[in-house]
Amino acid sequence: MKVTVVGAGAVGATCADNIARAALAQELVLLDIKEGLAEGKAQDMMQTAALLGFETRITGSTNDYSKTAGSSVVVITSGIPRKPGMTREDLIGTNAGIVKGVAENILKYSPDAIIIVISNPMDTMTYLALQSTGIPKHRIIGMGGTLDSARFKYQLSQHLGCSPSDLNAVVVGGHGDTTMIPLIRHATWNSGPVTNFLTVEQQNQIVADTMVGGATLTKLIGTSAWYAPGAAGAALVASILRDEKKLFTCCVSLDGEYGQSDICLGVPVVIGKNGWEKILDFQLNAEEQAAFNKSADAVRNMNEVLKTL
Ligand code: 2OP
Repeated sequence: MKVTVVGAGAVGATCADNIARAALAQELVLLDIKEGLAEGKAQDMMQTAALLGFETRITGSTNDYSKTAGSSVVVITSGIPRKPGMTREDLIGTNAGIVKGVAENILKYSPDAIIIVISNPMDTMTYLALQSTGIPKHRIIGMGGTLDSARFKYQLSQHLGCSPSDLNAVVVGGHGDTTMIPLIRHATWNSGPVTNFLTVEQQNQIVADTMVGGATLTKLIGTSAWYAPGAAGAALVASILRDEKKLFTCCVSLDGEYGQSDICLGVPVVIGKNGWEKILDFQLNAEEQAAFNKSADAVRNMNEVLKTL
């Protein structure tokens, strides 16, 4: 199997590193527009192979898409990251042109690839990739909810004093500070509802901290985070290449599900060899559905901006 990661910045390189360490692919191509960056990071990662014992062949390329030919999965991380004080939405003008060009170039050489979009604003970039390429909707997956759900589990684990991997918790809706919806009513610690173990005040705090999870890190680090975003991308690649059929929240094209159409938004999906294979209906209550609709309105407004670019 061959995987390409476009964008050799911190998120792309971390994603590639995780893919290599987990031996998900025989071949891994890292591509970037900046001369030498992808080649350098690919070489650096290859020099860990003897230490870590993986067999993946990693190569770098400066914008030569022919090197990506025959990729089964392509992860797009290209574009500028946010700086402190910026929202993900502030990036649309710059990143829309980049993501559109990348998706088109990728499909020239890997017409059957499944595309994972990480670039921000992720919901709008996923919608753009779908609209501009016209490939079947099951092959375009936005990563945001996978990351936000991991951050939700982190926040829950801090309050519960438990292992994050003992938790089931999903964040649906948009991948924005005000558009994501951590579904705390549905979250469980193994099979016990987390709401049994947390005060209402704690629950509200966990939800609020999850929603600004990315912004908090951007403020602390000075740029957007990369360990969890890269790992989230790699987890999706694993579920596709191994046909694991794991449940993740991903940004996918909705066609009436959750009451929305003509939009890409985060919902629970099964990820397997065909991309996103099935949307699960979590049976939102009236309050959750209202929040989902509000999130859709905000993302739809952002998608409208694409027409003006
Ligand atoms: C984040 O939330 C990069 O959007 C990503 O950190």
